[in-house]
Amino acid sequence: MSTTIQQSLLSATQRLADQHDSANLDAELLLAHVLHQSRAWLYTWPEHKLDAQQRDLFNQLVQRRAQGEPVAHLIGQQAFWSLSLQVTTDTLIPRPETELLVEKSLERIPQSATWRIADLGTGSGAIALALAKERLTCQLIASDKSMAALKVAKENARRNQIENVEFRHGDWLAALEDESQIDMIVSNPPYIKHDDPHLQQGDVRFEPAGALQAGTQGLDDLQRIIEDALPRLKPGGWLLLEHGYDQKAAVIRLLQQAGYEQIEDYPDLADQPRVAAGCKPL
Ligand SMILES: C[S@@+](CC[C@H](N)C(=O)[O-])C[C@H]1O[C@@H](n2cnc3c(N)ncnc32)[C@H](O)[C@@H]1O
Repeated sequence: MSTTIQQSLLSATQRLADQHDSANLDAELLLAHVLHQSRAWLYTWPEHKLDAQQRDLFNQLVQRRAQGEPVAHLIGQQAFWSLSLQVTTDTLIPRPETELLVEKSLERIPQSATWRIADLGTGSGAIALALAKERLTCQLIASDKSMAALKVAKENARRNQIENVEFRHGDWLAALEDESQIDMIVSNPPYIKHDDPHLQQGDVRFEPAGALQAGTQGLDDLQRIIEDALPRLKPGGWLLLEHGYDQKAAVIRLLQQAGYEQIEDYPDLADQPRVAAGCKPL
């Protein structure tokens, strides 16, 4: 029996509704992927009929989503800022809240600046590529300790035709050991407690543990970056970090203890503390 776009979306949404709040959106993203079309195209042609091959592939993807696999892994990509990024099981799936880190970084970078900016733990390249695209006169350094993630980030630079990014392999600030005049360092490091029950739920079960977990309090990587970034920054240079919703006080304390000034913390769209910034004294 042939089914239309409208019927396919309705039955997939019903099938996913118990497990996922985003059931309708998930169904649309999966069907758009199967048909090689945009979501807007689906709304325009609700009566279009799927052929047997398309119907089978869509059903398989819906089944895998029902079993928990992230949509981004099923379709191999995720939208972030104005970019379409390839994601694999080697990278974190870029989150909407990380766009706040991009926004707060851009507020500090003048339009025609020629800054050197480092994104530590770049994963898919999300933050570095968004900043590089918005500030073509800046030079980005994107680092990660995962070679597999760096490969994905490089592919994302190529796909999005972004050339002002250099990729480096290394353990946090070790990737910048030849640098002492960086204008801005940004990072969304792992910040989840290793025994946090959320690690056993939802999409994060399919993401690399090395992109998520950071010791007993979730602060190990944040602390290392805060302490080790200072000698790499030029006086007046900025450090911006994403952190957990319950880590604001701890991160501000770490920034103060290390000697940063003009410390600020910003809430995300869900009104949870999410991004901290500090400036190296002049
Ligand atoms: C939370 S993910 C963030 C990925 C990406 N920046 C984003 O926002 O979508 C953390 C990233 O840090 C990397 N990472 C973890 N430990 C690291 C270390 N010691 N040195 C460098 N990168 C590290 C992981 O491989 C992962 O890509």
